[in-house]
Amino acid sequence: MNPCRKAEKEDLDDILRGESLLFSDPWSRKALEECLDSPVFESFVCTDGKSILGYLITSTAAGEAEILRIASFPEHRRKGVAASLLRFFLQRAPKNQTEAVFLEVRESNLAARNLYEKIGFRPSGLRCGYYSKPREDAVLYQLLIKKEDPKI
Ligand SMILES: CC(C)(COP(=O)(O)OP(=O)(O)OC[C@H]1O[C@@H](n2cnc3c(N)ncnc32)[C@H](O)[C@@H]1OP(=O)(O)O)[C@@H](O)C(=O)NCCC(=O)NCCS
Repeated sequence: MNPCRKAEKEDLDDILRGESLLFSDPWSRKALEECLDSPVFESFVCTDGKSILGYLITSTAAGEAEILRIASFPEHRRKGVAASLLRFFLQRAPKNQTEAVFLEVRESNLAARNLYEKIGFRPSGLRCGYYSKPREDAVLYQLLIKKEDPKI
């Protein structure tokens, strides 16, 4: 597992770079700052000690967590960065009384869907036309947290 930790203010420039590079609806600096300051959101980074290799942003309320963002930088793909971030988050989940984790993903995003399924997420529904830029359906995934889950 690659080393992961909670994101800090100093990571914002790298996360912002990831947003503009990797997403068609990039989050603003203000939105990312609000995530760092809010008790509802948690942000994590995977690092090699010098650079940020990838990041994960979640929100949790009433025992239910949502994966809002997950990305690894193109030069660090397929090295377990995103899987490490998800596992890092999921290992903390029982302590935080999180019982289920949800997310949505573009139907065509097979890299992300394979990642989620490898970690143990299961498809739970479809949201037609959910995404814009370009318009596309979202596949919903969920993972129920068990206290001692060997997959996590
Ligand atoms: C999806 C993404 C986060 C995967 O990051 P990553 O660090 O390369 O993923 P990992 O190395 O941890 O891969 C874990 C597993 O995911 C799956 N996977 C990852 N990339 C894949 C690809 N290009 N094609 C098929 N499966 C892939 C594989 O099952 C992989 O396991 P394996 O390497 O043992 O076969 C990355 O491609 C990315 O940042 N994409 C752009 C942003 C994005 O789409 N985020 C998700 C939005 S919902």
